[in-house]
Order: sequence, then structure tokens, then C-alpha cells
Amino acid sequence: MAHNGLDAFKENHESKVIDASRKLRVAIIGCGWIAESHMVSYLKQPDVEIVAACDLIPGKAKAFMSRFGLDNIPTDYPSHKEMLDDKSLKLDAVSVCTYNRQHAIPTIYALNKGVNVLLEKPFTVTLEEAVDVMKAEKKSGKVLSIGFQPRLDANMKMIKKIVESGELGKIYYIQTGGGRRRGIPTPFGTSFIDDKTAGLGALADIGCYSLDMCLNAIGYPKPLTVSGYKSDFFGKDPNYPGYGSHHEYADIFSVDDFAAAFIRLEGDIIVDFRISWAMNMDTAGDTLILGTKGGLKIPSTECWNGSVGGPMKIYHDVCGQQTETVVPIINDLKHDESLFDRKIRSFLDAVKNNTAAPVPTSQILYNQAILDGIRRSAEAGHEVEINIPKI
Ligand SMILES: NC(=O)c1ccc[n+]([C@@H]2O[C@H](COP(=O)([O-])OP(=O)(O)OC[C@H]3O[C@@H](n4cnc5c(N)ncnc54)[C@H](O)[C@@H]3O)[C@@H](O)[C@H]2O)c1
Repeated sequence: MAHNGLDAFKENHESKVIDASRKLRVAIIGCGWIAESHMVSYLKQPDVEIVAACDLIPGKAKAFMSRFGLDNIPTDYPSHKEMLDDKSLKLDAVSVCTYNRQHAIPTIYALNKGVNVLLEKPFTVTLEEAVDVMKAEKKSGKVLSIGFQPRLDANMKMIKKIVESGELGKIYYIQTGGGRRRGIPTPFGTSFIDDKTAGLGALADIGCYSLDMCLNAIGYPKPLTVSGYKSDFFGKDPNYPGYGSHHEYADIFSVDDFAAAFIRLEGDIIVDFRISWAMNMDTAGDTLILGTKGGLKIPSTECWNGSVGGPMKIYHDVCGQQTETVVPIINDLKHDESLFDRKIRSFLDAVKNNTAAPVPTSQILYNQAILDGIRRSAEAGHEVEINIPKI
């Protein structure tokens, strides 16, 4: 489009035209809490037809789809397997919205069936599972994207832009993490706190985001070693206030509610990490990215919501003078648009155009390797090496 005069300086915010004549046939695996957000965003897309859903709990998928007025789509499948075997559905894509322990199995099954997958975070529970998923992905040639919607926030993108601009120089130290004072997630039952369903606690649930915020910014260097710690003092307490009258949750709690680690990355970079669902402190601290020319402070953030905790600051020298440059908060979400909508749209675009996944497994593999390393190190009581198998 030709620009004239001052218009040349306007940013192009025109909406992309979506080809609604080619509809993608999408199904949902796992109809719990987060599936709701997937549905809300899919239903805003003019080129999506929701054609099926399944859940291990009989009747749950049907009741779920009824809430969206989709009473007549097939939902009567005992698990992901029977749904993915149903050739009549002619599926283009699925959202895998199952709890963590059921991330790898349905994803591998879907990829083997030639179906594109949007998989919720964390990638998997173990590094081995992530590797198995990536082998299936490679063999299938299909799109597999991992559900890290905070990446699509303008402020998160700014962190990456600042690092890539060279403004900070060589990055050598990162402090990241975050946390809640009392925030063990049990509003919809125990799937987050039971090892049988979750596999990892705060470490993976919100820790994966804190790591991604920084590692994505610095280009995901390979992790080498980790010394990790995890604890469960709050989760195992029957009188934990968040449980209300559900004192039995303390017996079910079998993951971590706090984790910390010291991680070495290729390129002589150190990551100092801590994450909490519950602790006796208001914040686990600001996120700091230290470089040889400048340092970036990201105020204590709920980065899992895709937000920075306030305007970021760059600490640098300007003409020999110690200077602090404030980076204003950016809000570029359009009316009625959410980061989740962006996550769904970017996945659909990759499927339609046969382009790379917006959040590629090649990066999130390193995120998973760190989570896995922290768990192993915490259980072993000493530092461990991170060895990533060839895929
Ligand atoms: N991106 C985000 O912002 C965000 C937010 C919350 C949760 N999550 C992630 O989403 C995932 C699900 O969380 P949730 O809170 O919706 O859990 P949930 O327990 O509410 O729902 C999961 C559902 O999956 C079903 N299920 C499990 N295995 C299945 C299988 N093989 N086939 C069919 N159904 C199966 C379960 O029966 C359950 O109904 C978790 O991994 C969580 O980390 C992401």
C-alpha cells in the first residue's frame, strides 16, 4: 500500500483478512478449565468449525459443548484415542487441554494420525516425554505449538527486542521467577496438586513461563547444568487456608509448591530462578537481566498472565553518566481481544499456511530440560548435568 505525507509514519494496524471460505475442522481433547478459554477464542475465528470433543470423564465433553450451544457434535468417546480414530471427523487440528501427565500421549497419537496440535503448557512432565513428542512431530511434518500465550504480549515482546537490539551488551546473569503468597491452584479440584495428574507443581505450572520470558528473549541457549530445590510445606498442610474445608487436599498434594535453582547455560550465562504457589513473602523478586552494557529490570511480574508488574527500566551509562531509561507499559490489545485469541490465531495461521509453529518445540525442549533437571537435582540433593538426546 502506498503511503502519502504524514501517513507514512503511521503504524499499520489494519486487521488481517482471514479466509473464511477454508474452514479448519478442530476438536478438543480434555474439557476442563483451560479448554473453556480455547473454545472462547476458537469461536471468535471465522475459519474454524468445532467438530468434536472428548474427555475421560463420561458426559463431561457433552456437558461442556452444550454450554457453547454445540449439543449435536460427537462427544461420546471414552478417550482421545477413539476420537482421533474417527475418520469421519476429518480433523485438521486438536487442542490438547489435558492435565500435564496426559500431554505427551494424546499429542503423539494425534501427530501419528496426521493432525496438527496446539498443546497446553507445560510441554510435558519429563524430558523423555518431550523428546518422544518431538520425534512424532518430526515424523508427521505437522504443526505442534505449545501454549505460551504470554509471549504474544507486547511488553514481553519488548523484552526480547531490547535484548536483541544489543542495548544490554552481552548477557551474563538472569534472575527470574515469581510467585504467589497463597495461590495453590485448587479452584476446580485437584488435578494441579496430584502427582498422578500434574507430575510437577509450581515449578512447571508457572515456572515454565518465568523461564520462557527470559530464555526466549536471549534466544534459548542450551542448558548445561542445574542445582535445584523444591518443597511442599504449604501444600502438605491440612490447614492451608486456600483448601477451605477440603483438608483432605493435603493428603492428595504430591507435587512442589516452591522451587529454586541455579542454572548454567551455554555462553557462560547464569540463571537464578525461584517460583512459588505459596510462601511467606509478597514477591519472589523482580526479574533482572544483566548485560555488559546495560541491565533490564522487569518489576515483579505475574508473567503467567502475560503481564509485567510495572514499567521496565534499563540501567545504563549515557555519555559516562549512570542513567535509567523507563520503558513505558504497552497495551496493543484491540477491544475484545485477548492473548489467548492471539495464541489460537497464530496456531491456526501456521496450520493454514503450513508455516513454523508460533511457539516451537525446539525452544520449549530446553525449557522442559531445565524443569526436568530441577526436579532431578532436587531429588538427588546435588547439581546434575542436562543431557538432551538427539531427535
Ligand atoms: N495457558 C494457560 O493459561 C493455562 C491455564 C490453566 C491451565 N493450563 C494447562 O492446561 C492443562 C489442563 O488444565 P485444566 O485446569 O484445564 O485441567 P482440568 O483438570 O480442569 O482438565 C483436564 C481434563 O482433561 C481430561 N483428560 C485427561 N486426559 C485425557 C485424555 N487422554 N483424553 C481425554 N480427556 C482427558 C480430564 O478428565 C479433565 O477433564 C494443564 O496442563 C495446565 O497446565 C494452561
